[in-house]
Amino acid sequence: MRPLRLLALLLLALALLGTGPTEPGYELAEGFAAPYEEYAVAADHPAASAAGAEILARGGNAADAAAATMLALGVANPASSGMGGGGFLLYYRAEDQSLTYLDFRERAPAAATADMYDDAEPPMEGPANSASQLGGLASGVPGEPAGVDAMVRRFGSLPLSAIVEPAVRLAENGVEVSEPLARMSRYFGGQMRRDPLMRGWFAGPEGGLEPGSRLLQPELARTLRAFGRRGKRAIYTGRIARQIVQANRRNGGLFTMRDLADYAVVEREPLSAERFGWRWVTAPPPSAGGFTMLQSLAILEGLPARWRPVERGELPNAAFLHALAESWKGPFLDRERYFGDPDHVELPLDAMMAPERVGARIDAFHPSLAMLPEDYEQPLAEEEPEIVQPDNAGTSHLCVVDREGNVASVTTTVNLPFGARYTAAGIVLNDEMDDFARAVGEANAFGLVGGAPNLPGPGKRPVSTMSPTIVFGEDGRPALCLGAAGGSRIVTAVQQVAMNVLVHGVDPGQALRAPRVHHQGHPNQLRTEEFAPLDAARLRALMARGHAHEPIRNVANVQLIRIGQDQGARLVAASDPRKGGRPAGR
Ligand code: GLY
Repeated sequence: MRPLRLLALLLLALALLGTGPTEPGYELAEGFAAPYEEYAVAADHPAASAAGAEILARGGNAADAAAATMLALGVANPASSGMGGGGFLLYYRAEDQSLTYLDFRERAPAAATADMYDDAEPPMEGPANSASQLGGLASGVPGEPAGVDAMVRRFGSLPLSAIVEPAVRLAENGVEVSEPLARMSRYFGGQMRRDPLMRGWFAGPEGGLEPGSRLLQPELARTLRAFGRRGKRAIYTGRIARQIVQANRRNGGLFTMRDLADYAVVEREPLSAERFGWRWVTAPPPSAGGFTMLQSLAILEGLPARWRPVERGELPNAAFLHALAESWKGPFLDRERYFGDPDHVELPLDAMMAPERVGARIDAFHPSLAMLPEDYEQPLAEEEPEIVQPDNAGTSHLCVVDREGNVASVTTTVNLPFGARYTAAGIVLNDEMDDFARAVGEANAFGLVGGAPNLPGPGKRPVSTMSPTIVFGEDGRPALCLGAAGGSRIVTAVQQVAMNVLVHGVDPGQALRAPRVHHQGHPNQLRTEEFAPLDAARLRALMARGHAHEPIRNVANVQLIRIGQDQGARLVAASDPRKGGRPAGR
């Protein structure tokens, strides 16, 4: 046996002398998981879950409720999502058991070019201040209004004017500023103060929003009402469109009225695979999230069971966490190299998922050694595209299940907190352009590097990690709706929580609050959570395998609804205590 391997095995044996997994050491947010019989909404703000539940109580279905929840989220937490952003919907219609995936992600304006950030100066001082993260050049054409409009027209049962009501009320009556929202506004306050509307949110010339105060947004209420009356035309044409274009150009951007008028939702085929006895249906490109999760699941399933041992009813042990971390390294490399907007670049998904390629990654795995990300390299061609890529955090996920069994899984975003940090017509404009590769080889706010296929271009959509997911049981019925916010960590969090429930067999609340790990290949670090620390024994066992360890505050924020007979209830909905959300339902 080689000395390195011997040493690793010795360290591993020593580490395993510790105790097994323990409960995480933090206070649970009260009411973060609850059983329901008729319908449920899990969103990462209590007022948004309540908005969705209100629409369900009024006879709306999952699409109506998801639309109302999205609109309310944008009001209650304008740092994370809203009408100025975009996202993805995965919708299951019980009546005909159909699945639909709507892509309403932001699009680069027609004047965007691959080198648009080469000589662009940071628009102002402060955090996340490059031209792809702050100001007009950072914004893609918003997709959220078109997405909500399409969801309701395709699947809804109530008029849009009724669906906007809870969000309008929140904007007019005000919403209590939470500590996380206040914290983010303090962090970005210097930049936000340059925007006349955001400046009005702050009490004084310093600091940010006051925790516990009420955030009133009358201008946003007017915009929402107009949207309720006229649908997407109210936003993409006419007065509000002009306000958006003017604000974007005043802040150095390239938007035109034509860019807005041309915005279109795209229907895509979701990715799916049978793994571990379940059918996983998830996000296709331009998100790399679904691909990452399905390839990781394929690798895990292909490993000998003793290398990823599962004890039903127990949280994942160190060997399993090691296997998870290793399984993500290869797909994250693929993301860096090959991913881009599938409508603009050739994305060799089938070749990337080929069984022999997955098999080669399984062969590269070692149960007691953390391999270098490059050990999982599987080039598809002799001439490989250059690497570059990006990602973000101002994101939100929600799940809705209604009485009929329709399921909506939506992830929505303005990218970094408060997007590009300027507003128009009461709307916070996104900085989704940072999800493009700014330049070949440069890392973004989340340390992700990426490839030429993801350089900006006219009408292109940037690569995403957002992973709205629905998992189906052997009987073909939905068993779990989930998704997450949190940049590059979205997909690793979604996969872990789903596996905690479905593979490890722990209840949804425990599955959600359990400590999570994250590895994205580059940087070559295993991240653990300060919010839910891994117990010393499992951490030691992971370190003994040679992982470089970096604690971070948390690994994303997950929302889920378990559908079935858990705890005797038809539905169990849970909102991640990491973000203070709370589900609602009946
Ligand atoms: N901006 C979040 C994502 O698309 O992954």
